[in-house]
Amino acid sequence: MGMLDHWHPVHPSQSLKKGAAVGVQVAGRLICLYRTESGAAAAIDDVCPHRRLKLSYGRVVGEKIECKYHGWQFDPCGNGESPSTPKMHTCTDAFDAREEHGYIWIKSKQSNPKFPEINTNNYYSLGTFHHECPAPLELTLDNFNEIEHSGTVHDTFGYDLDRLHEVRVRFETTDDSVRVINVGPTKRLFRPFAWLLGIRDGDLFHDDWTTHFSPVYSVFDHWWTSPDGGRESMIRWRLYIFFWPIDETRTSVVSFVYGKSRYPGKVGGLKLAKPLFRMEVDREIRQDIAMLKHMGSLETGIEGLKLSRFDKVLGLTRERINRVYRGIQPTQPLANGRYPLIA
Ligand code: FES
Ligand SMILES: [Fe+2]
Repeated sequence: MGMLDHWHPVHPSQSLKKGAAVGVQVAGRLICLYRTESGAAAAIDDVCPHRRLKLSYGRVVGEKIECKYHGWQFDPCGNGESPSTPKMHTCTDAFDAREEHGYIWIKSKQSNPKFPEINTNNYYSLGTFHHECPAPLELTLDNFNEIEHSGTVHDTFGYDLDRLHEVRVRFETTDDSVRVINVGPTKRLFRPFAWLLGIRDGDLFHDDWTTHFSPVYSVFDHWWTSPDGGRESMIRWRLYIFFWPIDETRTSVVSFVYGKSRYPGKVGGLKLAKPLFRMEVDREIRQDIAMLKHMGSLETGIEGLKLSRFDKVLGLTRERINRVYRGIQPTQPLANGRYPLIA
């Protein structure tokens, strides 16, 4: 499988109105998304096979998109016709498009991967976010997949720098997933916020996530308990964060954010708190992006780095990104059965 063979959430459904087109870039490939006049989302190569104008610059005519340069038209399957040379056969690549969870997801036609499962049982949707990170896929995922940086970068989710040494971290792996479980004394939160979440001094913060690789996404669970585990915070968060490369130096981060509340009422007050929690999640992600903006190098290899006990995940995710997501067939398993990193 190649990168485009996996389902990627590339554009919010509601921002693509009937008869509109937009260009997106996934793994370096320019793709034209358009919504036909009957309302279906379509995805085809964005480079017109005639003279390479972007098709997304054109207009939708019925079920087809018409290139603005010379008026050639293409349907959602990529079949084209030229008004000036009607007998000429032309076509372009088309992609499967599907709409779920308020997003348009696309993948290549020839693949048949499982659609990523977003389990919203008993969780209330706090909305979605789409951020662009100025770093390659690996460096972006590295940031979201270790908690050591929460000591300096974050305000809510994580651990204070002076107590990071007390945080326990465990890794569990399967062939196509990596789970990281962190437990330790929580950050000292802004008092009213801690009160709202039901967190007391000395409570433990649990940060437990699993990263999958078809496509690349992490499912994060955030919650707090008393040190003996007997009392839990009033709110839990669950985030599904999808990471897909725009090109070699930029990564899209699409987050589907959910909360669960133990406060009384239908959704435990989350409807009311939604703007505040949305602001908080957005701020935390922007704090990550600020770090990625200031990388001294965009190299993705980890050889020669001085890695900490939290960084074991970097090698585990790279191996799976290459094997599962990029479909690079490893040739030489190491003695431990794992495959060598492919830079
Ligand atoms: S470039 Fe598209 S029709 Fe000519
Ligand atoms: Fe972070």
